[in-house]
Amino acid sequence: DLYNFRLIRPDTKVYGIIGKPVGHSKSPLLFNESFKKVGLNSVYVHLLVDDVKKFFNTYSSVDFAGFSCTIPHKEVALECMDEIDPIAKKIGAINNIVRRPDGTLKSYNTDYIGAISAIEDGLRESNGSSPATSSPLAGKLFVVLGAGGAGKSLAYGAQQKGARVVVANRTFERAKELAEKVGGKALTLEEVNDFHPEEGMILANTTSVGMKPNIDLTPISKEALKHYDLVFDAIYTPKDTRLLREARECGKIIVYGTEMLIRQGFEQYKNFTGLQAPEELFRELMSRHA
Ligand code: ATR
Repeated sequence: DLYNFRLIRPDTKVYGIIGKPVGHSKSPLLFNESFKKVGLNSVYVHLLVDDVKKFFNTYSSVDFAGFSCTIPHKEVALECMDEIDPIAKKIGAINNIVRRPDGTLKSYNTDYIGAISAIEDGLRESNGSSPATSSPLAGKLFVVLGAGGAGKSLAYGAQQKGARVVVANRTFERAKELAEKVGGKALTLEEVNDFHPEEGMILANTTSVGMKPNIDLTPISKEALKHYDLVFDAIYTPKDTRLLREARECGKIIVYGTEMLIRQGFEQYKNFTGLQAPEELFRELMSRHA
């Protein structure tokens, strides 16, 4: 009983995840179990949507309270919003939509918050500083591999925290375009292997290199990793990518893609309900249903 249908009443708040494909998404499980545990009269369903513009023009007959938005709709959905969080607008992608009491839609990008907060906490845990202090990313050289949706989220998020951003991508033109937007430097993916103007850099992989089924691949040489303090991989299938394994062997701080996934969910929960997410429950469900 994934959707708790027995609990739905006329005043139940209904949320949904819009995507195609969407059936594999674990968000309904995470949100419904959390709503149940906290005692919220809410339900969260899968919404298989082909044409997202048509969906937003016609769905209003159902009184949805909010949406999550996933592949391939994160960019087009942005055009259907009444208000967009400024950084989400810069990134050019949204994944979280809240319907306000007057029926208007406000949207956010929680991917960048999830990734950046995971990286910040990884650095803080290693140097023992408290979460209240300023961002440990300030002034750091932050290398983003990839210039797609996830690459943009990381690049803008890092820039916002005061990091100096470098974007490296297989297609150099895309790296250049994104680097210009965040006031950073562009490289090709090959050039990253010889790029070490300083030590203690941060690396974030957002390319699909190393993703299942190509688990033997890595986007950067092991040798190059020695110039970094921390390595993050946005890939979460598999959880432990070759990149992260090699970074661990080099004694680096590693941050898993699953951590970004879980934390972006915390932010969505907060935007939907105004409450802190039941973080332990989210983590437990994610690991139990991995
Ligand atoms: P996402 O939303 O996950 O970022 P995306 O927008 O499709 O997905 O972006 C995929 C990223 O992985 C791009 O940076 C892509 O590089 P190109 O811009 O050159 O296409 C990168 N990528 C995908 N397959 C790759 C491969 N085999 N080698 C190197 N980079 C790859």
